[in-house]
Amino acid sequence: MSDRGNSLVSEDEVDNERRRFLIATTAGVGAVGAVGAALPFVLSFQPSERAKAIGAPVEVDISKLEPGQRMIATWRGQPVWVMRRTEKALKDLETMSAFLRDPESKVVSQQPAYAQNVARATKAEYLVVIGYCTHLGCSPTYLPEGTPHNLGDEWKGGFFCPCHGSKFDLAGRVFKGVPAPTNLVVPPYHYLNDTLILVGEDGGAA
Ligand code: FES
Repeated sequence: MSDRGNSLVSEDEVDNERRRFLIATTAGVGAVGAVGAALPFVLSFQPSERAKAIGAPVEVDISKLEPGQRMIATWRGQPVWVMRRTEKALKDLETMSAFLRDPESKVVSQQPAYAQNVARATKAEYLVVIGYCTHLGCSPTYLPEGTPHNLGDEWKGGFFCPCHGSKFDLAGRVFKGVPAPTNLVVPPYHYLNDTLILVGEDGGAA
């Protein structure tokens, strides 16, 4: 199951539904008097402080993350995985292209421009991705390099989705021949210092 059903996201979605309903309703009123009638409603549906806080960037302290480990933060109700890659994992990324659907991250919706590289990251050692499968939103399982598996000779560790068998490498790049159509999503982020990442803002680097 994905985490999308948690209460924070649900509230956001409810707000969106309200806005859509409002737009449909005010459009139905017609042009006559529409501006005067709509304005008070629009103002009253501005995002609340809580809604703004839900969308706020989150700081992730990576100072204790060892090579091969992953930690999970939450941003906008979504799990954000931060994984520290080993030197071997970084070298393996260079050998995966033939097995991947979008090895060069050409689908622009899946990452900011600054993550459009082999490691899909601003600092190659650290991967930052949204932990939802791009097929139907299940949560893939992290299988570090060296974990026993039956996923083929090309498998060098990565993320395996148990729902329908999609596979992603240690840069979140999707394999060919699986249901997921695209690489995992890299959210906007930047480093506040060597051990602190701010997820949700790109710091002007986009
Ligand atoms: S949701 Fe991951 S493979 Fe279908």
